[in-house]
Amino acid sequence: MASEYMYITPDAAAYVKKFEWQRDQLLLRLEEEARRERIPIINLDSIQVLQQLARIKGAQTILEIGTAIGYSTIWLARANSSAQVVSLEIDERMVVRARGNINEAGLSDRVQVIHRDATLGLPESYAEGSFDFIFLDASKQKYEQYLELYLPYLRSEGVLVVDNVLFHGLVFSQPSEPRQAWIAERLDQFNQKLFHHPQLQTTILPIGDGISISIKN
Ligand SMILES: C[S@@+](CC[C@H](N)C(=O)[O-])C[C@H]1O[C@@H](n2cnc3c(N)ncnc32)[C@H](O)[C@@H]1O
Repeated sequence: MASEYMYITPDAAAYVKKFEWQRDQLLLRLEEEARRERIPIINLDSIQVLQQLARIKGAQTILEIGTAIGYSTIWLARANSSAQVVSLEIDERMVVRARGNINEAGLSDRVQVIHRDATLGLPESYAEGSFDFIFLDASKQKYEQYLELYLPYLRSEGVLVVDNVLFHGLVFSQPSEPRQAWIAERLDQFNQKLFHHPQLQTTILPIGDGISISIKN
């Protein structure tokens, strides 16, 4: 597997790296924990773009599918000082850690981590069209299901971002390992669906592990 800057030349990667944003002690600690424990969190270059998008959009309501330890959740909550964030996570141990980290970030009043299987959708109290920004980052094999479940919750002109859409480059390199090939094929189908979806205008950025950005018509 290549580095996190696999889609650009090594020289370009080294140059771009000079412009990484400063992170506070909390985010640096979470990056270190994720590295040490092999917890898959979003690449730094991708989350910088997500935070910029959420800020440009003035997103006040953000839904995240897949919290892990709350790294991306904290970045997204910090996009706007009054943004409300809801994040769904299936793994109870992750929920506990994420809540602790979000508390440490001083964001508990604006961020709610819900312990829930995202394939069940949102609890009934959430209305359709109530989110300005949705970030999908849970099980890659279930992206199509998440799209169907959560797109109705995105308001018109809202932004949908999906991580790992290039799947370490495997989505366009026909991997021989059967499980990887299966996931790559599912992701390719998902990307096609996003691109041809009548309600979405989608573009893919080959940064990090590949992110798609869609605007809802
Ligand atoms: C890639 S990690 C999320 C990383 C996080 N967004 C970040 O960048 O800091 C994916 C997370 O999705 C969770 N997950 C997987 N399937 C899920 C499901 N059906 N419902 C909710 N969470 C799920 C996993 O437990 C894992 O913690």
